[in-house]
Amino acid sequence: MQTVEANVRHSLEIGGVSTDKLVEEYGTPLMVYDEGMIRRNARAFRSAFESSELDFQVAYASKAFLCKEMARLANEEALSLDVVSGGELYTALEAGFPAARIHFHGNNKSEEELAMALDAEIGCFVVDNFLELEMLHDLASKRNQEVSILLRVTPGVEAHTHEYIMTGQEDSKFGFGLSNGQAETAIQIAARKPQYKLLGIHSHIGSQMFGTEGFDQAIQILTGFVYQMNKKYGLALPVLNVGGGFGVRYTEDDQPLTISEYVTAISESVKKHYTTHELPYPEVWIEPGRSMVAEAGTTLYKVGSKKIIPDLRTYITVDGGMTDNIRPALYQARYQAMLANRPDEDSTELVSVAGKCCESGDMLIWDLMLPPTNYGDILAVFSTGAYGYSMASNYNRIPRPAVVFADKGESRVVIERETYEDLVRKDQ
Ligand code: LLP
Repeated sequence: MQTVEANVRHSLEIGGVSTDKLVEEYGTPLMVYDEGMIRRNARAFRSAFESSELDFQVAYASKAFLCKEMARLANEEALSLDVVSGGELYTALEAGFPAARIHFHGNNKSEEELAMALDAEIGCFVVDNFLELEMLHDLASKRNQEVSILLRVTPGVEAHTHEYIMTGQEDSKFGFGLSNGQAETAIQIAARKPQYKLLGIHSHIGSQMFGTEGFDQAIQILTGFVYQMNKKYGLALPVLNVGGGFGVRYTEDDQPLTISEYVTAISESVKKHYTTHELPYPEVWIEPGRSMVAEAGTTLYKVGSKKIIPDLRTYITVDGGMTDNIRPALYQARYQAMLANRPDEDSTELVSVAGKCCESGDMLIWDLMLPPTNYGDILAVFSTGAYGYSMASNYNRIPRPAVVFADKGESRVVIERETYEDLVRKDQ
């Protein structure tokens, strides 16, 4: 959670830059990242693994937020990168992200996307389904290229999270089922294909998880499977990728573990289950997205109209909404916010924060205590750094906001604000 520091001008600071200054310089709505916090998160993941003495890769799940500068930051912090589309791959390559540390996910990678990734010689494909297993190999054979792959499996674990973001259960569009034998069939096919270097298996059981039981359960099941594949077919499967899903704090009701606690629990679980099966420890890969960037992001909006419905509700409206943060509308996600320009004032007014889209569901926060608001106040909504900008749209032809990185008292634009010209650029 963003620390609330009132500066001499009595406005909230992010990365040592006053929000007054940020708004003055870049306008609103504005997505501001505390760059130092993202770097500290990256280092926390890596250092927890270093203490575990397991070999590892921490692949930032770029779907949470990606732009060229974010890819550069991930590279500087020695992260690998999980991409799920040609567009994410393109962004990473344009930023000079080393292809060898790129992992390509997705349940319907097109032939063009596969070819693009082969051209770039990325580090690993996470193969999701039987079509891809054949198609990727055909493409690789034609090029006489060796390809490292993981197979995505669904271990049948139901993570305790919102059902739309639950992905490890049997009835899922992702991956090969373990209990119905499809994962084993896929392993047999992959092991026979000459261009494939089968590194191991991958599973991602869900997102925004607060506990570690789901990981332990999944790791137990995956280890049992690795053991069987080892016994039956002599396969080593040296990599175990357990996905992402580490929870973050959106409001005070959220009580996630620390990054180090998540990593330690996973490492211990891997060691325990691999020891039980007398298997050598694998290289452990994880794919944190939300936990890398969510709490580092704050959205600054300008407060506009106010509608007071006597004895019912007071709506305040901001100059953004579901176009820059669809999560409340899509997942009933909850956020915390404050007035950035008057951080010291008592919150005495109960309001609900509406966006500016032509849609009743375009609400950012229901029932929030704020100081009495006026036109022009700056509302800071916290923990918007993951799946906010990356899920943004131009609904109602609203341009996407600018994105800024702030650190040690300096700020810089990493994605420019969209203009009206941008909106019509592709129109004929
Ligand atoms: N790896 C795989 C294979 C995934 O599918 C995902 C997320 C991640 C890693 C990263 O998970 P994270 O650490 O960010 O929880 N739009 C939703 C979240 C969708 C997550 C999809 N997959 C939201 O806004 O909550």
